[in-house]
Amino acid sequence: MQDRIRNADIFSRLMSAEQAAGLIRPGMTVAMSGFTGAGYPKAVPQALATRMEAAGAGEPFRIKVLTGASTAPELDGALAKVNGMELRLPYQSDPALRERINSGDIDYIDMHLSHVAQHTWSGFFGKIDVAVVEIAGVLEDGRLIPSSSVGNNKTWLEQADKVILEVNRFQPAGLEGMHDIYYGTALPPDRKPIPLVKPDDRIGEPYLHVDPAKIVAVVATDGPDRNSPFSAPDEASQRIAGHLLDFFEQEIKQGRLTKELLPLQSGVGNIPNAVLAALSESGYEGLTAYTEVIQDGMLGLIRDGVLKSASATSFSLSATGVEEFNNNVDFYRTRILLRTQEISNHPELIRRLGCIALNGMIEADLYGNINSTHVAGSKVMNGIGGSGDFARNGSLSVFMSPSTAKTGSISSIVPMVSHVDHTEHDTMVIVTEQGLADLRGLAPKQRAQLVIDRCTHPDYRPMVQDYFDRAKRESYGRHTPHLLAEALSWHDRFVETGSMRHHSAPALSGGATTVPRDRR
Ligand code: COA
Repeated sequence: MQDRIRNADIFSRLMSAEQAAGLIRPGMTVAMSGFTGAGYPKAVPQALATRMEAAGAGEPFRIKVLTGASTAPELDGALAKVNGMELRLPYQSDPALRERINSGDIDYIDMHLSHVAQHTWSGFFGKIDVAVVEIAGVLEDGRLIPSSSVGNNKTWLEQADKVILEVNRFQPAGLEGMHDIYYGTALPPDRKPIPLVKPDDRIGEPYLHVDPAKIVAVVATDGPDRNSPFSAPDEASQRIAGHLLDFFEQEIKQGRLTKELLPLQSGVGNIPNAVLAALSESGYEGLTAYTEVIQDGMLGLIRDGVLKSASATSFSLSATGVEEFNNNVDFYRTRILLRTQEISNHPELIRRLGCIALNGMIEADLYGNINSTHVAGSKVMNGIGGSGDFARNGSLSVFMSPSTAKTGSISSIVPMVSHVDHTEHDTMVIVTEQGLADLRGLAPKQRAQLVIDRCTHPDYRPMVQDYFDRAKRESYGRHTPHLLAEALSWHDRFVETGSMRHHSAPALSGGATTVPRDRR
């Protein structure tokens, strides 16, 4: 470990994960590293979960947990299983945690990822008692080499009273130099323009700072990140990607895009992977990404020269992707920058760069309002993540989904969304495997007809058309026609019967082809 912890004073604070976890007490607010299953602490949260379990029901041991975004079974999963969290923010995708949240055991604050640092600085989450942060190493002068994600670590290290470091030697030493930590942010009225005009501009330094007096423990670990398996794009995703690529070609013909497109932001999962693969096969080159997460598909594009640079805050790689990255870290270090999530998701920068925002959704309504987070309006799936940061501020905001879910029993195009994450004003393009609706420049009723014609599954199209036709005749107002008593009846029917279809409707034609996806 001496090669990783080059500062003798900090080295002397090495202890076991159990000893370090012993410094965390019930009721504390603990800020942890981790973003999309990368760079999260791997040992202390598990040791903490063991203590929580031992405490038993008589003396509940629970803490408030803040992170960058989703983590992994060793953190969210372990703490959720022992019901050890009373509050969690800002994004999650762990099945055990999701169950706790939806059963009402844990309060979950789902918020824009770009807001977390400034809300912390403003004190909305109270005092941060302890930060538990994974790093790749410590320099002689005490500066920290960040790990495979940066997330909110700068803020956690600055704001926490005490700091526990996990030094993970599994992370390649070659990560050093890949990060760009900007120390120029401030709260209003002291903000200055952020000096970034190209996705690959370096505006900060490669290291994190921490006051050494705050470091109460250093724990050595040697383990991989979550490494979700990579699944090849399914048929629906490939069709969605095809529609999007046709649309890009049209935009290029219109002169609104060039063959270099604009900096891409893409979520992770099957559809974004299909889009990246399609870009690679369609002769695009010199592309850039200004996004949150580098996934396998992006590594492939960088390797092939399709993508000349990528800026993000984290990796989300399969085991094969990790192997590829670790074996060629020197190549990737000159083409990938990892920043804090304040900067990767900064509205000023996303607007300036004109990002193309490509995000998934649960459902869209006729007018283009998007629900990315809640099934039937009340059961949270993951969270809004960075989709709002990018959709509101990008030059092109695209939402994508298969037109049906759960083997056709749910339509992704509904009369009214059961929860709103992105309003119609943020949505420019909706794509399903059925087709693409370009909503720019259209008024509400025009948007609705296009969404019905282009995006709705044929099994549901007559139902949506019927709703819209009656709403146009009977609605209280005719600007955005709705039948309020009926608008959410599809969701109601799903909750009651397990299907959005009328009982009298003919048998399903099978719905869109979907396969389980890797989740963020
Ligand atoms: N009603 C009910 N369930 C639905 C649904 C709908 N309309 N649409 C999707 N689902 C379910 C799927 O059935 C699947 O469930 P399962 O895990 O039980 O199989 C799950 O939601 C995930 O859907 P899937 O089709 O596999 O797509 P995905 O992995 O691309 O996830 C989102 C889609 C919306 C959940 C995902 O994109 C997300 O969390 N988005 C919000 C955050 C975000 O945009 N991040 C990117 C910005 S950086």
